[in-house]
Amino acid sequence: EQIEKGGYDHFMLKEIHEQPKAITDTYRGRLLANEGIIRMAGIDDHMNKFLNAERIIIVACGTSWHAGLVGEYLIEEFARIPVEVEYASEFRYRNPIVTSKDIVIAISQSGETADTLAAIKLAKSKGAFVFGVCNVVGSSIARETDAGAYTHAGPEIGVASTKAFTTQITVLTLLALKLASKKGQLSKPELRSYLQQMQLIPNKVEELLKIDTKVKKIAAVYKDAPNCLYLGRGFNFPVALEGALKLKEISYIHAEGYPAAEMKHGPIALIDENMPIFVIATNKGHYEKVVSNIQEIKSRAGKIIAIVTEGDTQVKEIADHVIEIPETEEAFTPLLTTIPLQLLSYHIAVMLGKNVDQPRNLAKSVTVE
Ligand code: AGP
Repeated sequence: EQIEKGGYDHFMLKEIHEQPKAITDTYRGRLLANEGIIRMAGIDDHMNKFLNAERIIIVACGTSWHAGLVGEYLIEEFARIPVEVEYASEFRYRNPIVTSKDIVIAISQSGETADTLAAIKLAKSKGAFVFGVCNVVGSSIARETDAGAYTHAGPEIGVASTKAFTTQITVLTLLALKLASKKGQLSKPELRSYLQQMQLIPNKVEELLKIDTKVKKIAAVYKDAPNCLYLGRGFNFPVALEGALKLKEISYIHAEGYPAAEMKHGPIALIDENMPIFVIATNKGHYEKVVSNIQEIKSRAGKIIAIVTEGDTQVKEIADHVIEIPETEEAFTPLLTTIPLQLLSYHIAVMLGKNVDQPRNLAKSVTVE
């Protein structure tokens, strides 16, 4: 097992560090930046279905569901196709309205999650075309779907999903950009520019992994907190959810993710000097609004750990700690903002002496209801 961990103390840490390669492997052969082309056989072979789809419904569970939410933002932003994201477990039991004009995208690392598999069967029985985004080749979900795209993350052993999440987002980004370009929403030069930016992501992830020592110091400060809040907006709202899930899974600290603007509709009541709040405040999109959310937290004495874009000055003045991410397209920021949150959860869990790779009560794939 030590050999399999490749010199890392845990599979989770190894898998966090494998992300630059996993993301590259996922877009390799698909992304042709200079030509401004994205090749994805599972879409190319069924292009008419995608172009005529009235709606895309994404079904998944857990971390894969969070990737699905990022997918919703990406597909609606770029391809302008309406998207709904459903927990597979709810979808399968609530008599959903699905027709042959819908495309269902099922996302699953293992390809064996019982609820997601059942949701696929239900969607197919109602005539929808089902596209899978799986990591495990030949898995039940990969076989049950009409077409799909594998994430090439390699085996993920740690129960807490890390590289599966970023590679799922990579596939969904390619899918959104591809559909956008086919629908004429993106010009060739625009697509080319996005693809060139995409190719820089693995190196930027590599850069971020180097701030591990800084993240570890922050982890040491907050490891005994009983509760934590994670806030993000836009593309980074699902990252806030994922950050909170990572922390609760492996450290057993209660954590909640929220869209930053929802804070004032309830969670703000929880804020006092004992509450660490992780805020994703990159300089694009809703930056000013997130800054004002941070000010509200500060005036209630909450502890702020902010993830900002390098060179940020505004948030730095207010936050207790800042973690910088390299500059990129707003739509690609989840691939970067996720990394420090994964490292943070990892270090807190290790410091608390928890079983990082096999947390209590959890299984790597949930093959029962
Ligand atoms: C993630 O850290 C979890 N362990 C869990 O939420 C997982 O993402 C979920 O069970 C879905 O699994 P799948 O991607 O294999 O379908």
